[in-house]
Amino acid sequence: PAMHTAALKKLELDYDYGVMDVNPEMLPNLIAALRSLNFRGANITVPYKEKVIPLVDEVSEEAKMNGAVNTIVNNGGRLVGYNTDAHGVYISLAYYTEEIKNNHVVIFGAGGAARATVYAVAKFFSPKRIMIVNRTLENAKIIVEDFSAKFRLTKFFCTNEHEVASREMNVASLIVNTTSVGMKPLASLHPLPPDSSIQASQIVLDIVYNPMETALLKLAHKAGARTVGGIEMLLGQGAKAFELFTHNEFPMHIAREVVIKELIHSHRSHS
Ligand code: ATR
Repeated sequence: PAMHTAALKKLELDYDYGVMDVNPEMLPNLIAALRSLNFRGANITVPYKEKVIPLVDEVSEEAKMNGAVNTIVNNGGRLVGYNTDAHGVYISLAYYTEEIKNNHVVIFGAGGAARATVYAVAKFFSPKRIMIVNRTLENAKIIVEDFSAKFRLTKFFCTNEHEVASREMNVASLIVNTTSVGMKPLASLHPLPPDSSIQASQIVLDIVYNPMETALLKLAHKAGARTVGGIEMLLGQGAKAFELFTHNEFPMHIAREVVIKELIHSHRSHS
């Protein structure tokens, strides 16, 4: 809310952006209220990103592929569901496009955030292969199956074995964490296998944004690698949602300032 509110204020747009704590039973009525009370739209977060799909009138291609909606736009009573998380991943990595293209990528995790990440990396960067590393192999297999059929330029693999993951890490240009390992309260942990290492030539993205510098990013810095923090994805998905709601360009600098301030504040008040 802080970044959307600051952006709306900056552009002097007459909207309010607020938060609602929702019970599962409330969800259908709440989505219907977007129409009846003339809301411009909504962002949807865990655990409702999948559950809202049958409640909207139309779902974008990206939301369909990701099986999740994080943004709903109300077009005169017609609700359209989008997924802007993939755009957040694209924005986070756009600078490194050439290095990712035709190379190897390792993605830790196989939840909703992993799906959006695998989708975005395959669609926008066409790597040679993507290896999904996850504790529960079955969850990773589903992503591999779904995306293998869709993206022909990229080969998809998965593993839950440390050794296989370490070997693949050695030849990857990009390493991404999409698991909650490293997020508060697991802030001292990182998702890498025990005997693995990061190289100076690699790019490391952690989509965890709290803390801003995760244990994984600390390791990557130490190794001399280039790093991207989760705040970029947070801002990128928000920017796309803002543009869908208002048809205005998102004032990124202001939003970034506000988000960083909030994160520093949350860090101070918890430590
Ligand atoms: P989201 O939708 O936000 O991505 P999620 O669906 O709960 O959240 O996915 C969390 C991811 O983090 C999963 O890949 C999960 O692994 P499992 O599929 O084995 O559950 C991973 N994860 C969460 N906690 C973990 C931990 N302590 N160690 C390893 N992986 C973990």
